[in-house]
Amino acid sequence: MADLRDLYQEVILEHSKAPRNYRELASGQSAEGFNPLCGDHFTVFLKLENDVVNDVSFQGSGCAISKASASMMTQAVKGKSKTEAKKLFDTFHKLVTEGDANGDRADLGKLAVFSGVSEFPVRVKCATLAWHTLKAAIEGKQGSVSTE
Ligand code: FES
Repeated sequence: MADLRDLYQEVILEHSKAPRNYRELASGQSAEGFNPLCGDHFTVFLKLENDVVNDVSFQGSGCAISKASASMMTQAVKGKSKTEAKKLFDTFHKLVTEGDANGDRADLGKLAVFSGVSEFPVRVKCATLAWHTLKAAIEGKQGSVSTE
């Protein structure tokens, strides 16, 4: 468990300092997401081709956990179908709310480091902010979504 915690710290720090795919996409669809508890917000940009995530990126401001989660999310869903991406969100959501016991970690790859978040309920919104936003972008929702 200590190893996973160290890894968690390391990964969060690394991705929040140098987030991957932190840019705007000129074309495609986008959505905005807010965490009303803190005011943090992200825009997620999405380019779909035949229902497959061809490119995905994000911009905005957020705490280290939310930024690291957004960064790793973009890496995880690129190349996945819309259905696979939404399923990954469900699995990830289960992991951060319920911990390891019930989730299928095998599908999550590196995202499994977020399992420790389940011990801090207020952080669940940080970890899922970008994911809620991605889901809204996939579904083509207008306006902004909230973690509430
Ligand atoms: Fe705002 Fe984490 S404190 S998203």
